[in-house]
Amino acid sequence: MNIQENISLKNYNTFGIHVNAKRFISIDSLYSLQQLLKSEKDIFLISGGSNMLLTKDIEKLVVHLNLKGISIDRENENDIYITVNAGENWHEFVLWCVSENYGGIENLSLIPGNVGTCPIQNIGAYGVEVKDTINRVEAIDIETRKLVSFSNDDCKFGYRNSIFKNIAKDKYIITSVCFQLTKKDHKLTTSYGAIEAEFSSKNIKNPTIKNVSDAVIAIRNSKLPDPKKIGNSGSFFKNPVISKSKFEEIQKDFPNIPSYKVSDTEIKVPAGWLIEQCGFKGKSYGNYGVHEKQALVLVNYGNATGIEIYELAQNIQKTIKNTFSIDLEIEVNII
Ligand code: EPU
Repeated sequence: MNIQENISLKNYNTFGIHVNAKRFISIDSLYSLQQLLKSEKDIFLISGGSNMLLTKDIEKLVVHLNLKGISIDRENENDIYITVNAGENWHEFVLWCVSENYGGIENLSLIPGNVGTCPIQNIGAYGVEVKDTINRVEAIDIETRKLVSFSNDDCKFGYRNSIFKNIAKDKYIITSVCFQLTKKDHKLTTSYGAIEAEFSSKNIKNPTIKNVSDAVIAIRNSKLPDPKKIGNSGSFFKNPVISKSKFEEIQKDFPNIPSYKVSDTEIKVPAGWLIEQCGFKGKSYGNYGVHEKQALVLVNYGNATGIEIYELAQNIQKTIKNTFSIDLEIEVNII
């Protein structure tokens, strides 16, 4: 086993934060992962590093999960079942599906990170969540080193949530995900305003999954920073769900507040809007700040520390609480 010492994790997290890993190993097969777990159970997993803010050096053994490979399990006239190993890059997989005309995840184009982490937070964008295409999730039980298979129901998916964020947290290592995608009669989700606007500006009347993917890429590029250029972790906070009565109270002072109905009694409001109202949008604090085009995204312009960004996040939470009496929940894992 090739365990390295004192490795910077700067290139292993999309925020681009430097912290030191005392011990580090990159794992590229199921067998070597199972072998490693014989002697090392107290590990810190890193895959695409797209949903974490590192605030301190890591004392545990850092295991970089680099399992690659895509295989077609089975298919019928309408659907195809594809198993993708955890270390495959998410966006490259989406582009491959689009090029093969496999439908279901085109709205999730350009989301940073790897396939193995997509079920954990149930990634979602432009009206689609990955849970709608996940058939099974395979994982290694860290304690027993055995492979366990989770059905879609087992995963208990919710908005940016799953069993892997709750009771199964730190118990399993996701090794592959099996997706069920469509081969024809794709169910396109294009009702999201920005997608419709893209189509009408390009005069697209009968969109294909490639058109949807291209539109999402154009929209994301226009307002979300590319982590290769500016360190970030996508949405830093969840969009809060509040009671209808609280929403109506806020609406009296802020008649333009955007909202999405969750149920007859609950309303989801965009955290980005709340943060913008409090004057944080585009604010720069030297090395870090709030993105100028989407206030939900905190950014590392250079050599910011995780602590600096975390303090900014706490400051935002406090301000939102004081202004709107809303608790903003952090979506990114703070390490
Ligand atoms: N808004 C503002 N100011 C901002 C940002 C947004 O006023 O700075 C307003 C917009 O004008 C719009 C509303 O908030 O009325 C919603 O904005 P947007 O469509 O950009 O979506 P979002 O709710 O802010 C969510 C996801 C994103 C996903 C988009 C598109 C969460 C936490 N975030 O953002 O996911 O791309 O919808 O579907 O649910 C991510 O998770 O990393 C991510 C980027």
